[in-house]
Amino acid sequence: MNTAELIESIRNTYLDHHRVKTLKHVEEVAQTAVWLAEKHCLSPEKCRLAALLHDISVIMTPQEMYDLAQERGMLLDPAEEKYHFLLHQRISRLIAEEQFAVTDPDILGAVECHTTLKKSAGPYDRAVFIADKISWDQEGRPPYYDMLKQLAGNSLEKACYFYISYQFDHTLLLMPHQWIKEAYLDLKSSVPAAVSDGGKPE
Ligand SMILES: [Fe+2]
Ligand SMILES: [Fe+2]
Repeated sequence: MNTAELIESIRNTYLDHHRVKTLKHVEEVAQTAVWLAEKHCLSPEKCRLAALLHDISVIMTPQEMYDLAQERGMLLDPAEEKYHFLLHQRISRLIAEEQFAVTDPDILGAVECHTTLKKSAGPYDRAVFIADKISWDQEGRPPYYDMLKQLAGNSLEKACYFYISYQFDHTLLLMPHQWIKEAYLDLKSSVPAAVSDGGKPE
C-alpha cells in the first residue's frame, strides 16, 4: 500500500465507524503537524500519518480497549486501570501496526504517546503531541492556546514543557499517568525555567 492508499484507508476506517468528527479532528491535527514538520525540519509525511492515526482507536469502546490490553498482557498504568479511555494512545499504536501495517518507529512512537508524551521523547513524539493540543477539538479556545502556538513554532521542547506544566499547575489531569510525570521531569531538567513549578511531580 502506498502512502496515498494508506491515507485513504485510514480515512475510510473513521467513516465506516461513523467517526466524522474524529476524522475532522485528526485532519486538523495533521495540518498542524505538517506545519510543525516544516518549522522543525521533520518529515511532513511521517507527521501527517502519525496525526491521522493518533486517534484511530476511537473505532473501539474504552472497555474493548481495556479487554484488548488485558488479552495482550500489556502492563497498565493505574490511570489506565481507572480511566480506560487513557489507553487509547497505546491501542491506536496497536491498530496502526496490526491493521495498517505501519512499521516506522517515529510514527508508531508518536501515536503511542500523543496524550501523555513520555521520557526521552523524540521530535516526532513532541510534534504530534503539540499538534494535538493546538488542534483543540472542544468548544472555544483553551487559555494557553496562543502561547502554546507561539512556542511551538520556535521550540517543540519548550512548547511541551509549557503545556505539561500548565496541566499540572491548573490540576487539569484526571489522574496523572506515569509517562506524563516522567516527561515533565525530563523536560524540566533540559528546559530553562519559564513557568512556575507549584504542585508538580518531584
Ligand atoms: Fe487522543
Ligand atoms: Fe486527538
